[in-house]
Amino acid sequence: MAIPAHYIQELLQRNNVYDVISSHVHLKRHGRIYKGLCPFHSEKTPSFTVYPDTQSYYCFGCGAGGDIISFTKEINGLTYVEAVKALAQQSGMPLPDEDDKLSRLKSRIYEMNKLAARYFHANLNSEKGKNARIYLRQRQLSDKTIVNFGIGYATDDWQGLCSHLKLKGYTEEEMVSAYLAARSSKGNVYDIFRDRIIFPIIDLRGNVIAFGGRRMGDEGGPKYLNSGDTPVFKKSNGLFAMNIAKKSGKDTFILAEGYMDVISLHQAGFNNALATLGTALTSQQAKLIADYAKNVVIAYDSDEAGQKATRRAMDIFSKEDVSVNVLQMDGAKDPDEYIKKFGRDKFEMLIEKANSALDFEILKLRRQCDIKDTQGRIDYLTKVCDILAKIPSPILQDVYCSRLANETGADKSSIKLQLEQSKNKLYRSNNAKRSRELLKEGIAGSIKVDYRQQGNTLPKVFAQQQIISALIRDNELFTQVDSQLTEDDFTDANMKNAFVEYKKLKADGQEVSYALLCHYLEQEARQILAKINADNADIIITAGDLQMHINNLKSAPKGQNEIKNTSKEDLAKWVESLKEKKK
Ligand code: GTP
Ligand code: MN
Repeated sequence: MAIPAHYIQELLQRNNVYDVISSHVHLKRHGRIYKGLCPFHSEKTPSFTVYPDTQSYYCFGCGAGGDIISFTKEINGLTYVEAVKALAQQSGMPLPDEDDKLSRLKSRIYEMNKLAARYFHANLNSEKGKNARIYLRQRQLSDKTIVNFGIGYATDDWQGLCSHLKLKGYTEEEMVSAYLAARSSKGNVYDIFRDRIIFPIIDLRGNVIAFGGRRMGDEGGPKYLNSGDTPVFKKSNGLFAMNIAKKSGKDTFILAEGYMDVISLHQAGFNNALATLGTALTSQQAKLIADYAKNVVIAYDSDEAGQKATRRAMDIFSKEDVSVNVLQMDGAKDPDEYIKKFGRDKFEMLIEKANSALDFEILKLRRQCDIKDTQGRIDYLTKVCDILAKIPSPILQDVYCSRLANETGADKSSIKLQLEQSKNKLYRSNNAKRSRELLKEGIAGSIKVDYRQQGNTLPKVFAQQQIISALIRDNELFTQVDSQLTEDDFTDANMKNAFVEYKKLKADGQEVSYALLCHYLEQEARQILAKINADNADIIITAGDLQMHINNLKSAPKGQNEIKNTSKEDLAKWVESLKEKKK
């Protein structure tokens, strides 16, 4: 992590957990802690708890937990660094300096990409671009479309773009890191895109971030060659034509599979079409789309692979606040072919009658149940509510409840009650699943295990978690731990890592809080520690408690037996004696 510890310390001092969270969640004070309705799952009684002592939060309902940075990250869908920047801005801190070298390289890549796009586009009108011009005509692309998308052509040369960029003052290393050139085994650089139609990929700010290249014939490598990840481009985040769709002003987007589908759609007037870059839809892409569109029509290829991808995309969209419709295309393999065969008006009709995935599921149930019969009606309503429970939008749920009331003659308020039951059922089963997963991972944080059960890994993990939690709450305890344990005593990867990072920060002279430590941990470790913090909120961990956990970890047979058969008072004495010995 490039952001230094002192910067994070200041950020934590300027932003406290109550202020950050209370601007999103209505919090009520309960002694030293605050409670509110969890923003990460739907609930009616508050199980979301905020701990000013450790500057952390934890939800006993869904297990979400962390510090102010992870809260900011989750609630706004930001990356870690973006969350740090957002908090910095809110509290009037200067932004952390991005690594100077990296930001310089990034702007060099943007410049190179822009030059490359111009170069490819200009090639179309050159002598060498004749076949490319013929190909584009064959695919029925108009000049306007070609200019609109900045379509170009990479010539068959091995050094075309490379020498062009070299002339403009870019180094071979820079070209390679932009994924415009590759290095041969002999050490020479050469153009990656050769004899291909080029589609520039442009981000929301108008920067050229990558390229897709299509071969024109049947031979010459893969049909499409796409840029790999670079400092300015992550394939799994990229969307083709998002820059144009965003400006379309339409609240419905059409998601297609291929570059050519999107281009065809735009040429036919559907300037709200976009595509992923030849990879399956990711949740980041779905989030971005949901930021700009209220509805998405999935218009993937009609073959089996396309239909499979459709179902997967629907699943991913179901977690976002966007309604999804699926286009059913007959007689053509993709939108490009459909429009050429049947015309744009027919395609528009397809879009209009695209069945909402939800309506489709409900209709299926409607056919299975006889709603004139009381039992049939109950079955129908119960099953539909089970489906509705999964959609995140309460507004949409309400719309459907009204519809159901009209359709079946049942009272809307009792349908809503049924929906609440379905939601509870779903919530319980999700929770049970989560506990099972936790158990499998050996976290088992919610399961209290007697620390005296020896020879089992579970209490050992528990002890490790307790030790880290104690260290976070009381930095003074560090010497007690450090004098007896090394990182090798920590068998749980998360806690081991936490211990290592804690030690490093201590060596660096830092006061280690939960939030500071979080900065150096993975999401899973942050969450586990948030949970332990929550469980321990009302408990004071004494040196004696800590010693039990230390001994448990060390598994020294003598120590164990002593603890096992010792009363609390004797134990305290014994811990005292240990301390004496140390002095
Ligand atoms: P046309 O065949 O020219 O109509 O292309 P298309 O845009 O319809 O593409 P297609 O449906 O064949 O594939 C969908 C998308 O998958 C393409 O736009 C590419 O992004 C990607 N893709 C297709 N073939 C390849 C390939 O060989 N390699 C890679 N990396 N991606 C590919
Ligand atoms: Mn196609």
